[in-house]
Amino acid sequence: MILPPVIGHRGAAAHAPENTPASFRAAAALGCRMVEFDVRLTADGVPVVFHDDRLERTTDGHGATGELPLAALRRRDAGGWFGPAFAGQAIPTLTEVLTLCAGLGLAVNIEIKPDDGREEATARLALAVARQCWPTTLPPPLISSFRPEAVEAAASAAPDWPRGLLVGPLPADWREQAAALGCVAIHADHRHLEAGQIQAVRAAGLAVLAYTVNEAERAAALWHSGACAVFSDAPDRLGRM
Ligand code: G3P
Ligand code: MG
Repeated sequence: MILPPVIGHRGAAAHAPENTPASFRAAAALGCRMVEFDVRLTADGVPVVFHDDRLERTTDGHGATGELPLAALRRRDAGGWFGPAFAGQAIPTLTEVLTLCAGLGLAVNIEIKPDDGREEATARLALAVARQCWPTTLPPPLISSFRPEAVEAAASAAPDWPRGLLVGPLPADWREQAAALGCVAIHADHRHLEAGQIQAVRAAGLAVLAYTVNEAERAAALWHSGACAVFSDAPDRLGRM
C-alpha cells in the first residue's frame, strides 16, 4: 500500500464543508493525493458520505441521520453552515464521492461509521457499492472503522482490499486485534500517540496513520517518529503538498 504523507480529512474540512463534493475538490486543488471520508447508511440502506449520527451540526436539518431515507436527506443543505458560498451542497452518496474522487485522481480511505446495530450492514452495503464503481485500474480503497464488526464485514466483502484498525488511544491488544482483522494499518488519534508506540507498530509490519493533525510542527514530529501519514483538515498547512 502506497500512502502519501498527508491525507485530506473529510476532503479538506478547513476549507470547505466536510464530506461534500466541494471539500473533495478543495483537497484536490490543494495538491492532496488521498482523502478520507465517513460512510453511514440512510434509513433505506443507501451508503452516504456524512460524519455525524445527527443532522444538526453540518446541515439545516434535524434528527437522526440514519432514520431518514435518501430522498429526505438529499433535501438538506450540507454546505450553508460553513459559508454562504457553499449553500446548496447536498449530502453525497458513496457512489457520487467515489466517482468524483476517481475522476480527480484521489486515492481514498473509506471510514465505515455505522449506527449501533448496523455495523455489518453498513460495511457490506458500502463495500458492494465501492466494488461496483471504483475503477480496478486505481489502487484499491483503504477501508477503516472504529467498529471491529464493520472491519470484519469489509474483510468478507473485499478480502483483497487493505484495512485499517481505527482507534482512539492505542489499545494494549492492538497487535491481536490487527491480526484478527487482517489489518495492514493502525489509524490512531495523534493526541495520545507517542513515538515509542509508533515505532512498535511499525516494527510489527503495520503502517501508522495519525488523525487529525492541523499543525506543521506536530506533523513533522509524527513523520519523524515513523508515522506513514497524517489526516489533516488543512493539508496546505503541513508543508508537504
Ligand atoms: O479516519 C480518521 C478520523 O476521521 C477518525 O475520526 O471522528 O474524524 O471520523 P472522525
Ligand atoms: Mg472519519
